[in-house]
Amino acid sequence: MATKIIIDTDPGIDDAIAICMAINSPSISVLGLTSVFGNTYGELTAYNALRLAELSDRTVIPVARGSDVPLFIPIQNLGTLVHGDDGMGNSNLPTPKGEFLSLSAAEFIAKTVHENPGEVTLLTLGPLTNLALALRIYPELSNQIKKVVIMGGVVAHPGNMTPVSEANIARDPHAAEIVFSSGLPIVLVGLDVTEKTIITNSLLQEVFKAKSPAVELLKKIIPAYQHFFAQYYSMNGSFFTHDPSAMAYIFRPNLFKTRKTSIFVETEGRCSGQTVADWNNKLEKRTAVEVCLKVNSRGVLDVLKNTLTT
Ligand code: BDR
Ligand code: CA
Repeated sequence: MATKIIIDTDPGIDDAIAICMAINSPSISVLGLTSVFGNTYGELTAYNALRLAELSDRTVIPVARGSDVPLFIPIQNLGTLVHGDDGMGNSNLPTPKGEFLSLSAAEFIAKTVHENPGEVTLLTLGPLTNLALALRIYPELSNQIKKVVIMGGVVAHPGNMTPVSEANIARDPHAAEIVFSSGLPIVLVGLDVTEKTIITNSLLQEVFKAKSPAVELLKKIIPAYQHFFAQYYSMNGSFFTHDPSAMAYIFRPNLFKTRKTSIFVETEGRCSGQTVADWNNKLEKRTAVEVCLKVNSRGVLDVLKNTLTT
């Protein structure tokens, strides 16, 4: 049976790659996309989510708009330098035809999980605001969501927002702390593994030979992402595999080596957004998170290529 997932996302160029991997794969059933601010303003990520949902040629994928702002802190450090002002590499994409659901992202997550208890995996590719809101209103979700796979955080590697924080967690640390203390079964696909897997330009050119609306869209938006990584990381056409790695986990969890530990999120000061791994149980007990520490990068890139080209 296909894996039922909801993708909570702030598209975002790497979000778009991850979503394209899933939408036409028979082993995955995308029950919906929920949008959140992050890589750009919430209104723009929401419209990008609609655009991505419309690439599905198998089913109609509903899109619910989510939060435009973090829970408590002001909006800061959007990802427009990386993803362009529009979140899609300033690629001037046409207006999407579809409409948002009347439910908010948090309500959609809750309704879908209530209708499919124990069956829905939530893949989060942006700040955790929508999930935190859903948990605040419907705390029983922590027993009813099958698994939450989070692209975010970092435990033993430098951060990409600050020296110790990853962008998705840093943009709404209070939401992340609510999620990590909720008791949900969580897998953390953080920078510890996403920066170990590198998409090269030659792999991309292979992908770009495929003829599909999804690949046509990726061809338009990825050059801006390559440009950012060339300019700021001297990566010369290559880039890190953030959101696509979390999607690859959904397809093939065995590509990752994990270790369980409680995770605490700093919410204030210079270390705000840090995901602290309590390896030796020094802090209060909470449900352990499966933290990805090693990755079979070749395997992740194979999943990426196969899902985008077949
Ligand atoms: C994460 O932050 C966002 O900018 C990317 O889309 C990815 O989800 C990487 O830190
Ligand atoms: Ca993202």
